[in-house]
Formats: sequence, structure tokens, C-alpha cells
Amino acid sequence: MISAVYDRARPQAEMPLSHPLVDRVFIGALVRDFYVRVRSDARLGPVFAAEIHGDWEPHLEKMTDFWCSVILKNGAYSGRPVPAHIKLKQVREEDFDVWLGHFRKTVEERCPPEVAEVFVDRAERIARSLKVAMFFRLEPPTAGAAG
Ligand code: HEM
Repeated sequence: MISAVYDRARPQAEMPLSHPLVDRVFIGALVRDFYVRVRSDARLGPVFAAEIHGDWEPHLEKMTDFWCSVILKNGAYSGRPVPAHIKLKQVREEDFDVWLGHFRKTVEERCPPEVAEVFVDRAERIARSLKVAMFFRLEPPTAGAAG
């Protein structure tokens, strides 16, 4: 009984997406298309240009590994996204909406809706946790506040 309640309260583990279209080659092409858009964005382009000098291929391969891990659950990526973003002091919270806008457009153009939905849901969830790590601060209680 107790374990039944516990099981229901636990978040569902994400399953690997199994779709004939979606393999590493497909994800690699999607990642490359997305970063073409990000690099030409007036706000995000300079953020990436300040971090990635010269050859973009290592970043694109790392991001392909990352998305293969997130979507196919194949363990290809073993990095740490939180510290990589915390050090980006010029990034503002609202920049994530721009990032997600390009991401959504890329996957909606390239994927059938049931696949696009999985990519977008997972991107939004990860974006939320990155934003918490980067921007969440406990404010001290304001002077005169009750309690
Ligand atoms: C405003 C939004 C964002 C900006 C400006 C941004 C920018 C960057 C930059 C500049 C890097 C470092 C590149 C390098 O040195 O290799 C990076 C790495 C990375 N980003 Fe983002 N990012 C954003 C949002 C996201 C989101 C929403 C995700 C996931 C859904 C994500 C996933 C990653 C990953 C996995 C890495 C590699 C970390 C590592 O292992 O080194 N980013 N990002």
C-alpha cells in the first residue's frame, strides 16, 4: 500500500524515444541546423562567439552526444551543463525564450509532431533547471515584513 503511493508520487522515468527517423545522424543534422540559427541571432550569436573560437565541430559533436543522451538515452554525453552555463555572466533569463524559440522552430521544421513534442518538452525541462541554477536567489525578507 505504502509502496503503491510512493510509486505514484515518483516522477516517471523518461523512456528512450524509439522512432525510425531519429538516430545519431538525424540528431547531428538537427543540432547543426539549430546552431546555424543561434549563431546568426543578434542576442545569442555574440554569447557563443565569445566562448567558441575557431572550430565549431567539437561543440557540435558534444551537443550531438548530449541530445542523443537526452532523446535516445544512450549515455553518449557525460559533461556538466550547469557549470558551463553559470560561467556565462552575460546571459539573461529572457535569453532562454529566444534559445527555446529557435529550438522549437528547428524541430518543428524537421520532425513529425509526435517527435517534435518530445524534443521540445525535454528542452523546456532542461532550460528550466538551468535557469534555476543560474538565476534563482533566495531574497532576504524585506524590512517590516510580518514574521
Ligand atoms: C540562453 C540560453 C543558452 C545559452 C546562451 C547557451 C550557451 C552555451 C555556451 C556558450 C556553451 C559553451 C560552449 C562551449 O564552450 O563548448 C554552452 C554549452 C552547453 N549548452 Fe548551452 N546555452 C543556452 C541554453 C541551453 C539549453 C536550454 C540547453 C539544453 C537544453 C543547453 C545545453 C548545453 C550543453 C549540454 C552544453 C555543453 C556543456 C559541456 O559539457 O561543456 N544550453 N551553452
